[in-house]
Amino acid sequence: MSPEPRIATVTLSPALDLTIRLPELERGEVNRTGPAELRPAGKGVNVAVMLAVLGEGSTAAGLLGEADIPAFDAFLRPFGIATAFEPLPGRCRINVKLVETVAGQVTDVNPAGAQASRTALDALARRLDALAPEIVVLAGSLPPGLPVEAWAILLRALAADGRKLLLDSSGPAFEAAVAAGPALVKPNRSELAGLLGRALPDRAALVAGARELVARGVERVVVSAGGDGALFVLPDATLWARPPKVALTTTVGAGDAMVAGLTAALARGLDAEATARLATGCAAAAVSRDVGAPGGGVPALADIQRLAAETQVERL
Ligand SMILES: Nc1ncnc2c1ncn2[C@@H]1O[C@H](COP(=O)(O)OP(=O)(O)OP(=O)(O)O)[C@@H](O)[C@H]1O
Ligand SMILES: [Mg+2]
Repeated sequence: MSPEPRIATVTLSPALDLTIRLPELERGEVNRTGPAELRPAGKGVNVAVMLAVLGEGSTAAGLLGEADIPAFDAFLRPFGIATAFEPLPGRCRINVKLVETVAGQVTDVNPAGAQASRTALDALARRLDALAPEIVVLAGSLPPGLPVEAWAILLRALAADGRKLLLDSSGPAFEAAVAAGPALVKPNRSELAGLLGRALPDRAALVAGARELVARGVERVVVSAGGDGALFVLPDATLWARPPKVALTTTVGAGDAMVAGLTAALARGLDAEATARLATGCAAAAVSRDVGAPGGGVPALADIQRLAAETQVERL
């Protein structure tokens, strides 16, 4: 039997993304379209896929509507990703994206998903702990039915000697989780500003804000700033990494790709500069990927490596 992967990702609120393309939506009419695409998604799921591209095996774990588990298993298996989903009654969120090609407009309809429970969260924590991963990535929003402390509860339940816990969340769930001591967080600018309760108008303010989290016990703080790149406050250096210019096709999943790069860097023990390059290369490859390809397009490793090499890294 092969050993369990060293990395696990956790998604408490996975979704199925249903993308329907049509010239123009005729409201109140029957709209017939070409085949729609239904793709399992959610932040931790996206991180696991990007890790697979980087050659890092992982287990995608989380809470998932029972009826949807086979679809997630079938989607993730070809990537070599193991799964450990704790079943919830009902179905996960189905996020509908209506792409109207004439006007170039996208309408999102995102209904609420399956109701979670503290019992399911505790069962997931036990299951994850039994997998004994060295690195756990906790990512995304909380489903209905869980307290705002859900990420904090999981972080405390999973804390173990030498295990690294990475967190990418937002709002009150993020705020509640920071005190539980993740090893790495990756807020974007507005998530960090929300957490600190003040505006972060420039780079100096971002550095000061990130260092405040380090003072609160978070070892590594990465603050992403969209097309401007990201700030990396790491144990061996503080850096700013600017991605090379890419043909932008989508910003969906940019943050998840960056988190995957950070996770692989941690697993490989990379230094600050190599970490910033790998994370930024992953993110830049994600924003320029061919979203029209089946599965929304998965970046190629060669593109990630080229973009990582072309990333500009500045020491602060
Ligand atoms: N327009 C862009 N061009 C090049 N790279 C980009 C662009 N937008 C984002 N990126 C890359 O992706 C990283 C993460 O993007 P961003 O700060 O938007 O994350 P986020 O707000 O967490 O996104 P998400 O919605 O996926 O959670 C950036 O630091 C940058 O490296
Ligand atoms: Mg994000």
